[in-house]
Amino acid sequence: MNPLSHVAIIMDGNGRWGLKNKNSRNAGHRAGLDTVEKIIKETIKHRIKFLTLYAFSTENWRRPKKEINYLFKLLETFLINKIEELNNQNIKLKIIGVKNFSKKLNNILNQSEKKTSKNTKLQINLALNYGSKFELINAFKNIKKDKKKISEKNINRYLQTYKTPDPDLLIRTGNTKRLSNFLLWQLAYSEIFFEKKFWPDFNQKDYNRILNKYRNIKRNFGKI
Ligand code: FPP
Repeated sequence: MNPLSHVAIIMDGNGRWGLKNKNSRNAGHRAGLDTVEKIIKETIKHRIKFLTLYAFSTENWRRPKKEINYLFKLLETFLINKIEELNNQNIKLKIIGVKNFSKKLNNILNQSEKKTSKNTKLQINLALNYGSKFELINAFKNIKKDKKKISEKNINRYLQTYKTPDPDLLIRTGNTKRLSNFLLWQLAYSEIFFEKKFWPDFNQKDYNRILNKYRNIKRNFGKI
């Protein structure tokens, strides 16, 4: 059985689910948030230590302003209502990406990270305004600035995922097979599962099916 310490998820298909079921893309994001909560619970049950969720990419700014505002409001309300509960569950929240949101949201994000920084049961990396190419360029720039050697160890150290092991497993829902500028360096040896269901329809049973499949894969890491 493969060890499993880090699951990364591209939560795709909210918009299409919303249009299909409620005639509104935003309704899909709302429903997607319920799936986030279910998957967090299940991740804890499996004693997985790291969960990285792709919530907003650097490319998502191209969406209509109304949808972007809705997403951030949803996140804001979620954190205001739930951070205490997450904290009580010993969950640590870390934002990866560039925090250049409204002053209010930036404050909420910073406070949430600070409040939960010592927690040890599960670390949730929430990728917000995240782009892997930008993260890598930034890492190289800082390595150069600090006059360090370009090495695998140093690149890992200068990425925002420093101290998070590379994902063992990547799941992308929504019936699309691409990486969308997500953790390009960190996913080098991850097992990848593409799931047909839209994120709001994805449930504990689907998650468990993938985790079971993953556990039984022969992982070679280049060996035979
Ligand atoms: C991708 O679906 C999903 C997003 C861009 C947002 C992810 C947000 C959530 C799961 C809910 C909110 C979560 C938090 C943490 C507040 P899409 O809109 O690209 O779907 P589509 O491919 O069908 O258009």
